[in-house]
This record gives sequence, structure tokens and C-alpha cells, in this order.
Amino acid sequence: MKKIIAFAGTNSKTSINKQLVTYSTSLLHDAHVKILDLNDFDLPLYGIDFEKEHGIPKNAYAFLDLIKSSNGLMVSLAEHNGAYSTAFKNLFDWISRIEAKTFFGKPMLLMATSPGGRGGESVLNIAKDRFPRHDANIVEIYSLPFFGNNFSNGKIIDDELNLQLKDAVKQFELSL
Ligand SMILES: Cc1cc2nc3c(=O)[nH]c(=O)nc-3n(C[C@H](O)[C@H](O)[C@H](O)COP(=O)(O)O)c2cc1C
Repeated sequence: MKKIIAFAGTNSKTSINKQLVTYSTSLLHDAHVKILDLNDFDLPLYGIDFEKEHGIPKNAYAFLDLIKSSNGLMVSLAEHNGAYSTAFKNLFDWISRIEAKTFFGKPMLLMATSPGGRGGESVLNIAKDRFPRHDANIVEIYSLPFFGNNFSNGKIIDDELNLQLKDAVKQFELSL
């Protein structure tokens, strides 16, 4: 059975992106899913001085190992001021110090949602441009706008947007 790692790019305990990525994993047919929470991988703020003095923290190695041992990644990024959340960027910076090819060519379903109408478009554009330089194999990109209107009780309630996600998950599964 394929091993899927899913996580949201945020440290919010009530994350809408975690809700979206969790729902997305429920659409997989036959996979062993591990949903990660960035709060379980506490890391100091990246700094070259910290790294020189203390090295790279164990949690960065642990997260990278989970990516490495997976068959595919489902990622939903929170957008803060048009970019990655600090929590995700910090993790990304740390793991990139261990291994530049942080995503090991694993198929990725890249997602974002936000309360507004752009559905995290800016952070998706950043990731779409950047992740392939770290050996990401982005199979599909999905954006859910107006989370509060379109998501309820753990699932997408807009038929069209739900169908789009189902299609994206299907393509992702076919690529595994
Ligand atoms: C500091 C900060 C900046 C934000 N900037 C944006 C933004 O640029 N675009 C956007 O769509 N939402 C923005 N938001 C709203 C987030 O999309 C919203 O908080 C969302 O819940 C974050 O995702 P999460 O719940 O998965 O952490 C911002 C929120 C915070 C706290």
C-alpha cells in the first residue's frame, strides 16, 4: 500500500488548511496516510549562527525522513501576507540545510485555502515556482477560495469545487 504524508503549512491548531488536507486524504482509495502537524516538529527560528553553534535539530531530520520514506505528499499551504506562513518557511529552511532536494521527486498534490476569494493564490504561485527546484514533482494544484462558505462538517460543500478536488486527488493517485 502506498504511504502518503499529508500536512498543512501552518502551526494553527484550528487550521483550515489542515481541514482541507485531511478531507483530501479521505478521497484516496487505497493508501496508508500519515497526517503530520507542524506543532509536533518544534524548531528554533532558523539562523546561521544557531546552526553553527548547535547544528541542525533532530526534528528537521525527522520531518525530512518522513518525506523520504513516503510515496507521495499532500500539502496545503496557509498564506500569510502573500507568502508561506513563518512556521512552514522555518521548517522548509531547516530541512533544506540537510538536503537541497527536500521533496525527493515524490508526487505532490499542492493545495491552499484561505477565507478570501483568492484561495491562497499567492503562496501557491511561490510554491509552484520554488518547490520544483527542491525536486518536487507537483502533479496537481488545487485552490479552495472562501473556505467559510465552501467547507462545512469536514468536507467541501460546493459541488463544482468538490469535483475539482476529486479529480486532482485521482490524478495524484494515478501518479503514485
Ligand atoms: C499574519 C497573517 C497574514 C495573512 N495574510 C493573508 C494573505 O496574504 N492572504 C490570505 O488569503 N489570507 C491571509 N491571512 C488569513 C489566512 O489565510 C487565515 O488566517 C487562514 O486561516 C490561515 O490558514 P490556516 O488556518 O491553515 O493557518 C493572513 C493571516 C495572518 C495571521
